Amino acid sequence: MHPILEKVRLSEDACLLKVHAVHVSKAEPGQFVMVQYTKLSELVPLAILETFQEGFSCLVKAVGRSTLEILEEAESFQYVAGPLGKPFPVEKYGKVSFYAYSWGIAPILNVAKALKSAGNRLFLQVVSEEFYLRDRCEALFDEVRHSEDILNFEADLVVSAGSNRLSYQLTQLFPQTPIISMVNTHMLDAVGLCLVCRVLVDGKYALACSDGPWFDAHKVDWENLMAREESYKEQERIAFEEYLKTLKRKRAINVNL
Ligand code: FES
Repeated sequence: MHPILEKVRLSEDACLLKVHAVHVSKAEPGQFVMVQYTKLSELVPLAILETFQEGFSCLVKAVGRSTLEILEEAESFQYVAGPLGKPFPVEKYGKVSFYAYSWGIAPILNVAKALKSAGNRLFLQVVSEEFYLRDRCEALFDEVRHSEDILNFEADLVVSAGSNRLSYQLTQLFPQTPIISMVNTHMLDAVGLCLVCRVLVDGKYALACSDGPWFDAHKVDWENLMAREESYKEQERIAFEEYLKTLKRKRAINVNL
C-alpha cells in the first residue's frame, strides 16, 4: 500500500499528489509510473513531476474514469510500478523551447530542471487554456508564454508533452529543428508484453512503455497514433458516465448519513 501523503487541488479537475513509494525516489528525469488505486482499478500511467526521499509527486488531470476516481477518492494506491520508461536524454543543447499542453507541464518541469542544471537556456509555452504550476515555471524558465497559438522561440531543441496533436503540429511548423516529444498512448502492463502502447517510429513499431515515452518527433507516425486514440473514445465515454453515476450515489449516501 502506498499512501498519498498530500493531495492539493489545482482546479476542479486536476490535483497534485505526493505519493509514498521509496522505490520510485531514484527515478531519472522523464520517467513515469503506473499506479493502481484499488485491486479492481485500471493501471494508470502518470508522469513524474519530482522525486523526494520517500517517493514522488505527480499531476493528475481527470481525463477519464480512472483519473477521476484518483482525483475524487484515492487516499492511497494499492500498487505503484516504476520508475518506468527511458529517461530523457539530458545534454547541453543550447536554447531549448518547451511546449506543454495541460498535464504535460509536469513531465516538462521534471525534464527542464535537469536541462537547466546541464547549462541550457529554457523557454516555455503553454498552449492549453489551463496553465498548472505557473509559479514554478516562472521560477525555472528564462521566458514563459501562455498562448493557444504556437510561437517560435528559434531553438536548438524543441520538447513537447501533453498532446499528440500538439507534437504533430510542432513537426509541421519546425521541420528543421530537432524535436523530442512524449507520446500519449494507452498502457496495460508497461513491461512490453501487451503491445497496447505500440507507436510507429521510423516505419517500425516501438513500445512507449519501454522504448519511450520520449521519441524523436520527426520519426513518429502521429496520424496513426491519433487515429488509434480515437478508437477507444466511445468505451471511455461509457466508463466515465458509469463512474459519474456511482460517484453521485456514493455522495448521496454520505449526505444522508
Ligand atoms: S504497455 Fe504493454 S507493451 Fe507497453
